[in-house]
Amino acid sequence: MILPAGLSLTEDANGLCLTDGKMTMRGDLSKMIPRIKRGVVGTELLVRAARLKDMSGTPTLIDATAGMGEDSLLLAAAGFNVILYEYNPVIAALLKDSLLRAARIPELADAVSRMSVAEGDSAEYMRTLRSAAHEDSSPSSVNDRLPDVIYLDPMFPESGKNALIKKKFQLLRQLELPCSNEEELLEAAVAAGPHKIVIKRPIKGPYLAGRKPSYSIEGKAVRYDCLIFA
Ligand SMILES: C[S@@+](CC[C@H](N)C(=O)[O-])C[C@H]1O[C@@H](n2cnc3c(N)ncnc32)[C@H](O)[C@@H]1O
Repeated sequence: MILPAGLSLTEDANGLCLTDGKMTMRGDLSKMIPRIKRGVVGTELLVRAARLKDMSGTPTLIDATAGMGEDSLLLAAAGFNVILYEYNPVIAALLKDSLLRAARIPELADAVSRMSVAEGDSAEYMRTLRSAAHEDSSPSSVNDRLPDVIYLDPMFPESGKNALIKKKFQLLRQLELPCSNEEELLEAAVAAGPHKIVIKRPIKGPYLAGRKPSYSIEGKAVRYDCLIFA
């Protein structure tokens, strides 16, 4: 695994962590417990944006930019089966370790059981999804193999507010690159044939790849742009 100079991945009694020798950073989904409680998770802006009219039958959602999986946890707690794509091998390793530990926490176990990590480029995967579904299935079951919702949260363009990010998360920021392939990511998501694509943006940020959404849901700092397909 290639890491920026000065950073390393190590394992201690509490699991895998990223360190620069002074600070350490590891995934900790336990801090999300208050937000995934029944009756609370449905009030989350992201959940309101992603929810489908019919949530029966555990709809499938691809989180195409998983990061440390906090947004995915909210979506799994809201009833989605979530496939988390992460292409940075260091972040993917931290994410997998974090989920292993979370699965042992009773308040998280149910939601975590609906989350699975796939290491790789989600754009590559989504681009091939529809043809793979056609090859492997009878025409009537193709739709069953396609995701219901795709969630995109590529790194925001620089806002100048990096100093406000908690110090230990600045370690992670050294691994994340600003999204350079917005068009490709969005085109691949559309090609995968979901009912809905949800995109997280800064409240005043431009539309991803300049594409106007069907509607947006706004919070104080972020906005969720929703693209609806028939
Ligand atoms: C802003 S972070 C996502 C944070 C995440 N929503 C959360 O709750 O922790 C974006 C992440 O997406 C990953 N990423 C960006 N483009 C990707 C792609 N095409 N395939 C897989 N992962 C990608 C980056 O490596 C980074 O970890």
